[in-house]
Amino acid sequence: MSSRRLQTIIRSVATSDGAGVSLRRSLGQSPAARVDPFLMLDEFFSDDPDDYIAGFPPHPHRGFETVTYMLDGHMLHEDHLGNRGDLLPGGAQWMTAGRGIIHSEMPQQESGRMRGFQLWINLPAAEKMKPAHYRDIRPEEIPQTALPGGGEARVIAGRIAVEGREIAGPVQGLCTEPLYIDVRLPSGGRFTQVLPAGHNAFVYAYEGSLGIGPADDARRLAAQDAGVLAAGDSVGVHAVDGPARFLLLAARPLGEPVVQHGPFVMNSREEIEQAISDYRLDRLV
Ligand code: FE2
Repeated sequence: MSSRRLQTIIRSVATSDGAGVSLRRSLGQSPAARVDPFLMLDEFFSDDPDDYIAGFPPHPHRGFETVTYMLDGHMLHEDHLGNRGDLLPGGAQWMTAGRGIIHSEMPQQESGRMRGFQLWINLPAAEKMKPAHYRDIRPEEIPQTALPGGGEARVIAGRIAVEGREIAGPVQGLCTEPLYIDVRLPSGGRFTQVLPAGHNAFVYAYEGSLGIGPADDARRLAAQDAGVLAAGDSVGVHAVDGPARFLLLAARPLGEPVVQHGPFVMNSREEIEQAISDYRLDRLV
């Protein structure tokens, strides 16, 4: 089995989105900073309500999926389909925009910590115009498993094997076959996992520093950075200086052209112009 090396580091940059929510963007800060089919990863983390209170008022999407995973805080999702879902600590929402969705995500607190992630996953050409779909995933639906040597993993999408036991997350059966896990390691703790050889993968460190790769060539990944993994069929991650927490994401690449204009991600300029026109004429959804 060949352990994947840490190939490229995408350092996150401070930016803001929505109506003025402060966040750190790793994937998606430029067209080159994507890991097909992953388009963007934002981390929001603040104890200051000025950084998040404005939230994400109603806005459109077309052509991909948005996944919000909360660690702390409380947001309310509402969309044009009439879906309404509370995003609570440890919960997630998996929103397939397809041909179009108009939604909002607004903080339901005026103080305290707001912390979580938003990930964008591309859809293939054949699925970009399918009807929108929304799934609210409550914290208790996300399985959590203890790791040998300490620490734990939560599986949001896909499946992992821990000591011969398979743990399957609530999200399965998507064409990109995404794996989305959240791992906590104690100081010196290790995590190894088999990954499909043809899938692209990256690690996002959000607390502490990690060593990633084979024992003889482990490279360091600092907190708030995304580490893109080279080809191989497994990954090894260890916490190098104290405890660490990270996300591991992997999926089948689409290998299609990506043309993005803000919240629309399509295959061609013409399709983007169509999306803009549809939105202006109230025909997006
Ligand atoms: Fe959105």
